[in-house]
Amino acid sequence: MFTRILGTGGYLPEQIRTNADLEKMVDTSDEWIVERTGIRERRIASASETAAFMGAEAAKQALEDAGLEASEVGAVIVATTSGTNAFPSTACEIALKLGITAVPAFDVAAACAGFSYAYAMAHQMILTGMCQNVLVVGSDLLSHACDPHDRTTIILFGDGAGAVVLGRSETEQGTLAVRLSSDPSCAPLLKLPFPERGGFNDESWLYMKGNDVFRHAVVCLSKLVTETLEMAHVAPEELDFLVPHQANLRIIAATAKRLRLDMSQVIVTLDRQGNTSSASVPLALDEGIRTGRIKRGDVLLLESFGGGFAWGSALIRY
Ligand code: UT7
Repeated sequence: MFTRILGTGGYLPEQIRTNADLEKMVDTSDEWIVERTGIRERRIASASETAAFMGAEAAKQALEDAGLEASEVGAVIVATTSGTNAFPSTACEIALKLGITAVPAFDVAAACAGFSYAYAMAHQMILTGMCQNVLVVGSDLLSHACDPHDRTTIILFGDGAGAVVLGRSETEQGTLAVRLSSDPSCAPLLKLPFPERGGFNDESWLYMKGNDVFRHAVVCLSKLVTETLEMAHVAPEELDFLVPHQANLRIIAATAKRLRLDMSQVIVTLDRQGNTSSASVPLALDEGIRTGRIKRGDVLLLESFGGGFAWGSALIRY
């Protein structure tokens, strides 16, 4: 028994925050942001664009793309660390919006690596025979968790949601390998405490020791992509596309170099979306597919890295 991607979807809020907008908020410049991160603009969720709202919109597209009805979804797994409530979970809220009932629905908290974790859970649930089709969503609005006066974080994060329908196949091996790991000793370098009632304050904004996280991310991702390919006995030359977490163009370029990939084989969205945390990989995947760059049969390496530290990958034949 195998798993394969049946459909994808994405949702981006309407409001755009450009680097020029940020120049008016903090002591920064378009030149610095583009040179150090590759980001030019990002989307900002309005009050009604919650993790559940954005996730449901992305999920509707993914179901339509898969040609499936809500009644055919066997589980809903949502990667998020910015849901409205601790409970009900964002997954339950999305299930309610889509009319999905009587199936497992739960959130996965692995920060920016959340989608890799959720994908791996879905893959295993299908392989064990528990479900036929699983809706996997990544939805986050971490722009709202950043101190608007902190130039080291507010420039990085954007909001959005991406979704994938993963289904069972007896003939086509879509998922070739999944790999997850973590290093809890690095927890203090990247933190988002739960806010006090009444909202975020100076103690609860997202904290990141950027250059330390950067160094760890490059090393971990480099090891991760090599190990993932080895697990499936796939050579780097057999890869068609890298679909990376969109934190920093320099991290993405280092991972691509490790895989000896040309940047034309890398799906990059961060210039227009910034770092959308758990949404970044499914949004990049969806964009790659909808723009016609990624085609059925292509071999894709998905990877992500974030707070925890936690990181993960999926090697896929689309
Ligand atoms: O998705 C979860 C995982 N997250 C990541 O992977 C993010 C990893 N980290 C990064 O992407 C980068 O470290 C950053 C983009 C956050 C920062 O880039 P950097 O090249 O590592 O810069 P830095 O933190 O070493 O700071 C260099 C200088 C400092 O000034 P001094 O001390 O050299 O005078 C900072 O104060 O740049 C300054 N700086 C800024 N200047 C203008 C920091 N932020 C800004 C800014 N505008 N927005």
